[in-house]
Amino acid sequence: MALILGIESSCDETAAAVVEDGRRVVSNVVASQIAKHSPYGGVIPELAAREHLTAIGPVVDQALKDAGITPADLSAVAVTHAPGLVPALLIGMTYAKGFAIANNLPLIGINHFLGHIYGAFVGEDAPYRFDDPALYPMLAAVVSGGHTSLVVLTPDGKSHLVGTTLDDAAGEAFDKAAKLLDLGYPGGPIIERLAKNGKTDAHHFPRSLTGAAGKPVAPENRFNFSFSGLKTSLLYLVRDMGGADKLSEEQLYDCLASYQEAIVDVLCTKIFDAAKQYRVKSVVLCGGVACNGALRERFEQRVPKNLIALTAPKKYCTDNAAMIGGLASFYHRSGAYNGLDLDAQARLPLSTELPFSLR
Ligand code: KG4
Ligand code: ZN
Repeated sequence: MALILGIESSCDETAAAVVEDGRRVVSNVVASQIAKHSPYGGVIPELAAREHLTAIGPVVDQALKDAGITPADLSAVAVTHAPGLVPALLIGMTYAKGFAIANNLPLIGINHFLGHIYGAFVGEDAPYRFDDPALYPMLAAVVSGGHTSLVVLTPDGKSHLVGTTLDDAAGEAFDKAAKLLDLGYPGGPIIERLAKNGKTDAHHFPRSLTGAAGKPVAPENRFNFSFSGLKTSLLYLVRDMGGADKLSEEQLYDCLASYQEAIVDVLCTKIFDAAKQYRVKSVVLCGGVACNGALRERFEQRVPKNLIALTAPKKYCTDNAAMIGGLASFYHRSGAYNGLDLDAQARLPLSTELPFSLR
């Protein structure tokens, strides 16, 4: 039995979790900084780092307490080291390194992006194991505030980025729309709630890089995304309607429902086109935006019969450490540990290689 402590601090959530053998989440603590960043309508990196600094100790202590264990019961400590806001990552990493030294534990650096994919496999009721050969090749759609990326994972543990956003991430499209309409932060959950009252076909927002406008899509952009034009289109629509403060409730709900529909439509169209193109056996939907009910529903409706579709449970879609501690069990099994020279990295590389095979 391997008990791994996972630590996550790549953005605005300070999180720690204890996971047994990659599946059983023994404890899962998430301290959100939303209230601190809310007045700015987005995450301020230095503020995030300062908040992590004060939260990290108590959050880790709580995770151990909830699990009813001491550091001596752990097999390893895993920490997100990339990609993310570097000042924020450094706090979790420095804490994890100190924790590893003090308790004589191996250290495992985890890629946050792969962690999000693992969100679909953590928890005792996850329908598949990450290393189930029936799932590969797998297409993962990581849709969050930092990413909108399509990755193909092959059984040899290699992952290839096949599409990504050229500007805003889908989560940013939600957050920026909410900011524009003065609705609060983060925008995704607020827009989802209000959009339920509106008509999805009240306005036709652009579907960038889909060819829907009648123009062919350049081959290199077939699986890329662009959401900044959508946001601008909302800005002009609202301006033409007299400004955000002049909208009636019904007008606001219609704008939001149509806006959300444009995001959901583009995401599902590209995900299933890519699944076909790369002849994958499974598709995983994960990341914070995958909490969105309209997206989850459309995704499930559009899945072709021959494809296994996995949607991460909502609690493992937004940033958490269970996905980090869970994925780390595979590294632990193959002895893929990091030294204390483990570095932080802001960006996602085009391809990554897991230090183990999934076969
Ligand atoms: O995965 P996450 O917690 O952090 C990143 O790694 O970015 O994702 C946060 C993003 C935010 O942009 C937030 O607005 C979005 O996920 N989000 C949602 C929903 N819940 C969170 N977007 C749409 N609908 C939701 N229900
Ligand atoms: Zn994330």
